[in-house]
Amino acid sequence: MTRKLLVTSALPYANGPIHIGHLVEYLQTDIWVRFQKAMGNECRYFCADDTHGTPIMIRAKAEGVTPEELINRVHAEHYRDFIDFGIEFDNYYSTHSEENRQFSEMIYTCASKAGSIVKKEIQQAYDEREKMWLPDRYIQGTCPRCKAADQYGDSCDSCGAHYQTTELIDPVSTVSGNRPILKESTHYFFQLSQYEDALKELFKGGYVQASVQNKLDEWFSAGLKDWDISRDGPYFGFKIPGEEDKYFYVWLDAPIGYMASIKNYCDKNGLDFENLWNGDEYEIYHFIGKDIMYFHALFWPAVLMSADLRLPTKLFVHGFLTVNGQKMSKSRGTFIKASTYLNHLDPQYLRYYYASKLTSGVGDIDLSVEDFINRVNSDLVGKLANLASRSGPMLSKKLDGMLGTLDDKGRALIDELITAKPEIVDHYENLNYAAAIRKIAALADVCNKYVEEQQPWVTIKTDSEGTRTTLTAILNAVRMLTIYLKPVLPQYADKIEQFLAVDPLTFADTDTVFENHKIDNFVRLIERIEKEKVEAMVEESKQQTTPQQIEQAQPKLDEPLEAECEFGDFMKVDLRIAKIATASAVEGADKLLQLELDLGGVTKNVFAGISKAYKPEDLVGRLVLCVANLKPRKMRFGVSEGMVCAAGPGGEEIFLLSPDSGAKPGQRVH
Ligand code: MSP
Ligand code: ZN
Repeated sequence: MTRKLLVTSALPYANGPIHIGHLVEYLQTDIWVRFQKAMGNECRYFCADDTHGTPIMIRAKAEGVTPEELINRVHAEHYRDFIDFGIEFDNYYSTHSEENRQFSEMIYTCASKAGSIVKKEIQQAYDEREKMWLPDRYIQGTCPRCKAADQYGDSCDSCGAHYQTTELIDPVSTVSGNRPILKESTHYFFQLSQYEDALKELFKGGYVQASVQNKLDEWFSAGLKDWDISRDGPYFGFKIPGEEDKYFYVWLDAPIGYMASIKNYCDKNGLDFENLWNGDEYEIYHFIGKDIMYFHALFWPAVLMSADLRLPTKLFVHGFLTVNGQKMSKSRGTFIKASTYLNHLDPQYLRYYYASKLTSGVGDIDLSVEDFINRVNSDLVGKLANLASRSGPMLSKKLDGMLGTLDDKGRALIDELITAKPEIVDHYENLNYAAAIRKIAALADVCNKYVEEQQPWVTIKTDSEGTRTTLTAILNAVRMLTIYLKPVLPQYADKIEQFLAVDPLTFADTDTVFENHKIDNFVRLIERIEKEKVEAMVEESKQQTTPQQIEQAQPKLDEPLEAECEFGDFMKVDLRIAKIATASAVEGADKLLQLELDLGGVTKNVFAGISKAYKPEDLVGRLVLCVANLKPRKMRFGVSEGMVCAAGPGGEEIFLLSPDSGAKPGQRVH
């Protein structure tokens, strides 16, 4: 029986790049979807960028672009990263879409009519200079308990205290640096508690894994509170119908974005959305991380209930990625962006590694760098790919690439592989990829043992037909193992299919063997991981900055003579030779030029106040001195990641410093 499935991953925020933590989820989902498709089921995978909210508004402003420009750029970046990792969506949309606006308004209106929305007056922090309301994370101050400085609005990193923003000592808005005031405003609340019984009923039916049931019980005992679903302008989001300056909170319209992505797909493909989303023909699955469970286990089904829409079949919740046993960290270089990974390593390594670690539980998944290298090299390259590279080229070179037929021994080997199918299918279906990979690796061991026993590299000298029979068995085994691995390693499977000269493999192909068939020339399947490349990736990640860490400051080029400076302090300045790769004027800033500096492989974006003295086109290719470890600074037009050295009072009298000829980009200045 063909099943029909609609599958989603959580919608990544448009305020940052995809990193290897996100990839746990998108790879887990992609593998499941590919598995379902390979089983012959009708399965479609949907996602979108989550584009609304305060952080996006603030970041766009800091970069001097509109929120729309920002989210369009990030959408393209996210999508490219996903494609490069072999993550194949049937539709990758955006929550900033007409479909989403309409659904959000429709659902809100239904919830209102159902009596689930109430208005309340609340007090909130407000930045009078920026004329905006401040979420907790945009307020900093001194912890009321331990008096540590620079703590966030809701909790203290130093002593762990949780408090109200109003309790902070000397609070400042991180947007303007001003002291926020408290202001009253009317907000809309969704009354979650009205749905308590219906939610409990839903969970009885197995909406979530048993392992997260405890968490839900905790939430129920704590009591379901009303949920604030509105935000006052300025806000980047959808206006609430009937209101002038109030918007839906980003978390209201974000999950509705699942529906919008599916609706958009249906319209493009002539399908009936009502039938897909609201009928009973389709199973609907959401993959999410454990940090967003409250939204998906409680709010989302309750919101759907309030609008009389059908509920998803099940949530699949996964744990968080740790690297070498610790949270991803910038300073350790383990906060690795998808694009940085791709600069150094083959995406298939990560697909294989995550698959070998993923289970249906919500425990964290650890990427241990040593283990990553070992497992990929010993299992994927050493056991699996090796089986093909030992047999394929020999058949091509010595035996015209013609397969023969299986003898009893070969048949027995293949039968053993076929027998494992129900177990492997079961593991994939139940998200126990780790168990599937263990089984596949164990089967590869059996096959390699067969090769050792048959010794085709010896028999080829005296018995070509016997060797053909052996190689026929091995290549049939390769084909069978490839079927099992294909959801995890689609690119690898592509290459195998190409060299075996067979049509794209599916799970149904385990029913047949291939005999008397001519294969194509061998193509290299996968290389061993080199430790140096992993180290280079970590190194590159250490150099990067994330927008959250960028401080607000104004650029300065000219300084009066400073007091004496310790030698050690001076040595902290990482002065390097840089080549100006590109230079351009900055619209709206008459003194600034935007420079892209090449520091020997690392690129830095720098805003320099030199446009009165230099024409951009005269600068390209010129070597300059750059302060490479300057803390990145957020300026009105973007982020400046360094500083070029120049002398002079300013204006037209600015003189860039350059090295003598022979110096190379990236070299340190002593
Ligand atoms: N925008 C929300 C989701 C809205 S869904 C209607 C969001 N975005 S996110 O970019 O922060 O995260 C997207 C998904 O990636 C989430 O399911 C989250 O749990 C997952 N992960 C983000 N960082 C992760 C790790 N370090 N490890 C594992 N998964 C992680 O939440
Ligand atoms: Zn404290």
